[in-house]
Amino acid sequence: MAAVIQRLSRQALVTFMTRETAAFSSNFERLKTMLDSVTAEDIKLVVPNHLEQSNGTYTAGAPATHVSIFECPFFTLGVFILRKGSSIPLHDHPGMFGLWTLNGTRMDGFSRQPLHKRRLIRCRKTEHSFEESSGSCVLTPTAGNYHTIHNMSPGPSAFVDILGPPYAQEKGRDCTYYQECDPPSYHQATPIQVDNDDRWITEIPPPRDFFCDTQPYSGPPVSLQLISGPLDS
Ligand SMILES: [Fe+2]
Repeated sequence: MAAVIQRLSRQALVTFMTRETAAFSSNFERLKTMLDSVTAEDIKLVVPNHLEQSNGTYTAGAPATHVSIFECPFFTLGVFILRKGSSIPLHDHPGMFGLWTLNGTRMDGFSRQPLHKRRLIRCRKTEHSFEESSGSCVLTPTAGNYHTIHNMSPGPSAFVDILGPPYAQEKGRDCTYYQECDPPSYHQATPIQVDNDDRWITEIPPPRDFFCDTQPYSGPPVSLQLISGPLDS
């Protein structure tokens, strides 16, 4: 019988191979449902010692660890493990869809609004918390595409991350970091209509205090050959 992570990977492949077709939304929904039930045991999650033992004030070492499970031209599948009290800074996934799950984190998402000023982007803020029972969180090219992820648990937390299509700088899908900023000044000829949920963000260099180390994946194998052929369900 195929492992959960193998079936999930196969559904991700089907989903992102059909991204330009009418079948995409139902495939995406199926992928989300499958991701909802993935557990730490399914991926043989091992929390690195330096994250496990961090009390949240220890600042040496990476604040996050990334475990790459699988990459192909259609999607990437991996796991981020955040140490106590750490956050992934505000960043984007241009033109990409994403799904992630596992409890203990909070996502603050921002959706780009039509109007923006030079160097300032107007967004609308949304927020999702993952609890044990809550489903996977999704982002699309237009909803929640700018986001931060905070570890809200009393120790390290981890989430599975599926992105499709993958980051590809040469195709305009590079990761940029941002920070919230004040709205543009209003003493101008044409005042801007703003909503209470509006936020303004501006691009910043990659934050120096956030970086990832890596750890090998130790769960069931995932390969293109394996997930593109028939799986015994
Ligand atoms: Fe992200």
